Amino acid sequence: MKELKDYVVTIPDFPEPGIMFRDVTSILADAEGLKLAIDSLQKLLEGIDFDIIAGTESRGFIFGMPLAYNLHKPFVLIRKKGKLPRETVSETYDLEYGQATIEMHTDSVKPGQKVVLVDDLIATGGTIEAAAKMIERLGGEVVKMVFVMELAGLNGRKRLEDKGYSVDSAII
Ligand code: PRP
Ligand code: HPA
Repeated sequence: MKELKDYVVTIPDFPEPGIMFRDVTSILADAEGLKLAIDSLQKLLEGIDFDIIAGTESRGFIFGMPLAYNLHKPFVLIRKKGKLPRETVSETYDLEYGQATIEMHTDSVKPGQKVVLVDDLIATGGTIEAAAKMIERLGGEVVKMVFVMELAGLNGRKRLEDKGYSVDSAII
């Protein structure tokens, strides 16, 4: 039987020479892959008490929203700079290649709320750490970070676990 990792396509030298790009979205092109991805992520959340699922633009939306729908939780969008219409908090961080700023609405997480963060992939861990910082600035608590997969060699998981976050992936 095909495993989740078998649906991920690797593209050498994208978006820059030397980068081995893991295309997690190729999972979505197959109905069985898509179901396996969402079911696997959902399994990682079993037994966890939380109020909100938040996903980072754009691939975190794709994998996070079906979980929120299935588990009957609200979904919060963490967007790239300049997209959100109301008052925001923001964080700038380093990517594997380049820099980025992400934002969320200040009223999207209330003090004391427990948040699960979802993304397709951890590379350096910079995106998800920036997302966690914003949630914490709003008084929320990040109770879990879940990913479809991790890139070996960039130490993203270690960076996050060293800061006390609980990290899990559907493909280790
Ligand atoms: C990618 C990926 C993660 C992040 C991982 O998103 O979807 O969000 O980078 O890298 P990191 O662990 O080093 O922060 P990208 O910013 O390329 O956005 P996209 O999903 O809109 O393509
Ligand atoms: N694949 C997908 N997204 C990414 C990667 C990758 O290899 N590196 C940083 N973001």
